[in-house]
Amino acid sequence: MDFEYIKTINLSQLIEREGVYHRLENGLELALFLIDGTVYAVDNKCPHMGMPLHEGAIADKNVLVCRYHQWKFDLKTGISTFAPNIYVKKYETRIEDGFVYVKVPKY
Ligand code: FES
Repeated sequence: MDFEYIKTINLSQLIEREGVYHRLENGLELALFLIDGTVYAVDNKCPHMGMPLHEGAIADKNVLVCRYHQWKFDLKTGISTFAPNIYVKKYETRIEDGFVYVKVPKY
């Protein structure tokens, strides 16, 4: 599968340890987080009941806690911290000219 980096928001729109929602032109909905200078991007839909993950909180280190039923995901891998077979899709990011780019499959 081919991938491409898609430009998303300006880095200045991110607040340390707070989620930001961003929808790509292809309809993909992302939750973006800035933690200790690193930007993480995951699908915005929680694998539990599909609630928006950008509303979640960051617990210790890189753990995202869904605000609805407190499922927890390691943002470095997307994998649940209590059930390794459950995960949220994670996307690689890179910063270029002050903007966040997210690596997604080419459409
Ligand atoms: S919807 Fe996220 S934990 Fe239930």
